[in-house]
Amino acid sequence: MKVLIDETTIERRVTEMAADIRALYGDTPFTLLVVLKGAFMFAADLARRIGAPHMRIEFIRLSSYRGTCSTGSVSVPAGELARYAGQDILIVEDIVDTGLTLEVFSKALTGAGARSVRICSFLEKSEVNKGRVKIDFLGFPIPDKFVVGYGLDCDEKHRDLPHVAIFDED
Ligand code: IMP
Ligand code: MG
Repeated sequence: MKVLIDETTIERRVTEMAADIRALYGDTPFTLLVVLKGAFMFAADLARRIGAPHMRIEFIRLSSYRGTCSTGSVSVPAGELARYAGQDILIVEDIVDTGLTLEVFSKALTGAGARSVRICSFLEKSEVNKGRVKIDFLGFPIPDKFVVGYGLDCDEKHRDLPHVAIFDED
């Protein structure tokens, strides 16, 4: 598999993103809402670099993807959203591809009464999303290729890679 983004480059960028997030929220309490499972590694690195004592961390499981192609439908566990009413939410996602997942989810959060909803995504397939979803904090724009590593999987494999690689079978 071909390395697309190496470990050192990721580390440097995540540190910058954490500083930007800290600067934006300042002393305002906010909730880092981590989308499982793909964002787990990014979120762990990001959160410890933000290091804000008033930051809450929550997790939610959304899925819209099977293998290497999108199913085009998103399931949001509706019962879990009420507790975010009145909160400033920063969604942490691994990758924005078509943008469908976050388009549906951020609307659902706003509908549930969140005070503000912002998006932090490690990767974006910019030519696919085409501005459908506005990303407030973006790690890296990438080409329209299926990628794995740093939390991203193909059928639950390769999440453990410390870098991002373009997926191929061998
Ligand atoms: P979207 O709804 O099309 O934006 O898809 C977003 C979700 O699809 C992400 O949260 C990932 O879980 C998954 N996904 C999209 N592209 C890739 C990829 O290249 N590798 C691994 N997962 C991906
Ligand atoms: Mg995901």
